[in-house]
Amino acid sequence: MKLAIITGGSRGLGAALVKTYCEYDYKVISIARTKSNYEHENLIAQIDFNLARIDHFDILEGRIFNAIKGLEFKEVLLINNAAILGEMKHIQDCQNWNINDGIKVNVNAPLLLTSMVIRRWIGQSVNIRIINISSGLAVHPMPCSTIYCTTKAGIEMMTKTIALEQKDNHRFKMVSISPGIIDTDMQTEIRQTKKEDLEAVDQFIAFKEQNLLVPPNVVAEKIWKVYSDDQYQSGETVSLRS
Ligand SMILES: NC(=O)c1ccc[n+]([C@@H]2O[C@H](COP(=O)([O-])OP(=O)(O)OC[C@H]3O[C@@H](n4cnc5c(N)ncnc54)[C@H](OP(=O)(O)O)[C@@H]3O)[C@@H](O)[C@H]2O)c1
Repeated sequence: MKLAIITGGSRGLGAALVKTYCEYDYKVISIARTKSNYEHENLIAQIDFNLARIDHFDILEGRIFNAIKGLEFKEVLLINNAAILGEMKHIQDCQNWNINDGIKVNVNAPLLLTSMVIRRWIGQSVNIRIINISSGLAVHPMPCSTIYCTTKAGIEMMTKTIALEQKDNHRFKMVSISPGIIDTDMQTEIRQTKKEDLEAVDQFIAFKEQNLLVPPNVVAEKIWKVYSDDQYQSGETVSLRS
């Protein structure tokens, strides 16, 4: 039996990943603030949890372990997919709570969940796979996206560092995936930003008008292929744009 824990599984790319992994016969746990209407016998839990309240991680951890009580897995996959843009403004105009929430959802939660998965399954006959969903903005700075760019750069470094820590563990692999531009609520939010806040907004509107946004199910299938081909090195960032 294989397990996939997917954050942000209620909509967008995460919802497509939940569906994809259910169909490929993984037992799936989805974590988001809201539950989706999606039903599948392999979707064993939809945990409603606000990752900005990650200070209460022990509650989330308890709910995850409760959902898998008595089940044995030969493979455990964690996909750190949930993320927020944060306020798209110059950093001095962002509210303190919003900066904090961005770091909690985009960095703290992936770190804590990754630590939890490794601690729980290391040293057993279980293959551990971790995917951090990154962004081109991890390496291309865009003004008024400091919270997002900083946190995405953070999880790419997290991938590299943990891959090094586990380099002698043949049962462990962790990659970052930069998924390209996806047709989700996140892109809608970017397009709705005022030009005085986000100078590049016209570019994002043009992406939509030119049909350059990729449907989430297509991206989820590409992520599945990257994952199942097993051709990437632990620590790598894989770009789906090319
Ligand atoms: N869309 C793009 O063009 C694009 C490009 C590059 C990278 N990405 C990356 O791809 C991933 C998925 O993005 P998306 O476009 O699918 O985003 P989205 O449509 O905005 O969906 C975000 C998901 O994260 C969950 N989430 C947000 N805040 C949360 C919180 N506080 N606690 C728990 N869950 C929370 C949301 O669920 P609830 O609202 O129910 O909590 C939702 O399921 C992200 O890591 C994003 O950075 C996206």
